[in-house]
Amino acid sequence: MTKMTKTASLCGKNASCWTATAKQTDYSCLAGSLKAETVILGAGIVGLTTALRLCEAGGSVIVLEALRVGRQVTGRSTAKITTQHGLIYRDLMRNLGRQAAQSYADANYAGVNQILDWTIAHRIECDLEIKPAYAYTTDAARRAEIVAEAHAARLVGLNAEVLERAPLPFDTAGALRFPDQAQFNPAQYAVGIAQALEKLGGRIFEMSRAVSIEEASRWRVLTDNGIVDAQNVVVATNMTIKSPVGMANRTQPRSHTAMAFRLDDPTLFEGLFLGIDDPTRSIRTGRDDKGPLLLVLGPKFNTGQETDVAKRFVELEAWARAKLPVGDLAWRWCNEDYDTPDRVPYAGEPDPDKSPGFHIATGFNAWGISNGTAAATLIADRILGQSCPWEKLYDPARPYDKNFHVNGESRSIVESFDEIAPGQGGVVVKGKDKIAAFRDDSGELHAVSAICTHKGCTVSWNNADRTWDCPCHGSIFTADRSPVHGPAKKPLLPVDL
Ligand SMILES: Cc1cc2nc3c(=O)[nH]c(=O)nc-3n(C[C@H](O)[C@H](O)[C@H](O)COP(=O)(O)OP(=O)(O)OC[C@H]3O[C@@H](n4cnc5c(N)ncnc54)[C@H](O)[C@@H]3O)c2cc1C
Ligand code: FES
Repeated sequence: MTKMTKTASLCGKNASCWTATAKQTDYSCLAGSLKAETVILGAGIVGLTTALRLCEAGGSVIVLEALRVGRQVTGRSTAKITTQHGLIYRDLMRNLGRQAAQSYADANYAGVNQILDWTIAHRIECDLEIKPAYAYTTDAARRAEIVAEAHAARLVGLNAEVLERAPLPFDTAGALRFPDQAQFNPAQYAVGIAQALEKLGGRIFEMSRAVSIEEASRWRVLTDNGIVDAQNVVVATNMTIKSPVGMANRTQPRSHTAMAFRLDDPTLFEGLFLGIDDPTRSIRTGRDDKGPLLLVLGPKFNTGQETDVAKRFVELEAWARAKLPVGDLAWRWCNEDYDTPDRVPYAGEPDPDKSPGFHIATGFNAWGISNGTAAATLIADRILGQSCPWEKLYDPARPYDKNFHVNGESRSIVESFDEIAPGQGGVVVKGKDKIAAFRDDSGELHAVSAICTHKGCTVSWNNADRTWDCPCHGSIFTADRSPVHGPAKKPLLPVDL
């Protein structure tokens, strides 16, 4: 039984600074029956990149987006565009071999360059800035790891140097520097890519959630109001909503807390920064319509397996105020991505013999801006009958560590509705029923079933985002029951109190 704690009061608007301020184009909802060569589910960076590559090659493409273009994981990302993913190359070399590390570097290098090229070619106004990326430690004992990572990165052809300290306003004990990396506003980039692919004949539908994928003459995707028949289907829904090789068990959903503070002098931060220590921190500058911002990110936690998400924000804010010259808190939000056992994404055709034309991409380990662009390139190449150098590395059907994925338990079980304070949620077990109840600020109780519509786990209350988060495969539902992320396609069931 969970002890209800008072939620720490959180300032800042509960939204990503990118999605809240992006100048969005509206697309209609799918209605009726359409045909295309390729139907792509999901208009995040993966779906949109796949679509634009296919449109550039003259393909006929339909993109179905459950919510709005670029507003989910992509629009909530820290959006560093870099081949530097913390300490990864030495790990990949040790665990998967030199060739795998080389493929990973090549894929992400290509992903970074694709983004830079398209931003210029399509004149996308997404605040793109070229900056070095730093991985730093504050612990002198970990300096050797930075040196080893620089060596591994150089072996795969990346430009990496070791510095005595990172150019940050607090003490560090060493840093790895990759020059000429980049950052951008990911929501605005998604909007720009959507516009570019539309100009090339691609069609986009928003508020068009795929509820079923069936085999017909080849593939048939059903939404509540329409049908699309296509030769190829690309499931780019961040976590797959269907897969012949069970992606939910090959991944672990991980969430992070992100905060954006007002910043007087952005020139103090001439780079993108990632701490390798525990708890890890990520830092970059950004801006919204009121001026410069400093974004900071906290360490990851298993989605739905955290009792007090709000406390994580309080801790992150305390750290930022102690270490960095930040002003008022402007924005704060949670974001979720999926980790894989070997730190490599899954992308491609998982079962080309039995399910030809069925493509998936997931498991970006919170590095899906470059990895997601590379995954999309791979999928588009495959649809176009071309090979891609990182196809083997990203193979979605490769063997995996079966102990990696852990289903969690709800962290929100309470004895009665009376225990639920205004602004809080709790799960009450009544015989066979599990009721997820949220008490709004005026004291009214809103109840839904606590049984996740994906595979039946019991959801937990996220007291910062005010969502119901599933501790098994990371589905996230609004307080009023709609799915907003993860593999679940249907809302939580209504409950009559
Ligand atoms: C906190 C955090 C920080 C990050 N920072 C970085 C970073 O600095 N650099 C980096 O490289 N990566 C970063 N990442 C990772 C990166 O943001 C993601 O890996 C990437 O954006 C994933 O893109 P996507 O297209 O798979 O997902 P999404 O952007 O979520 O797109 C999937 C889309 O599918 C839609 N959808 C879902 N279900 C359906 C359905 N049934 N039918 C139709 N549409 C559906 C969703 O609404 C969504 O719009 C970060 C991740 C996190 C969590
Ligand atoms: S996300 Fe799989 S059971 Fe909830």
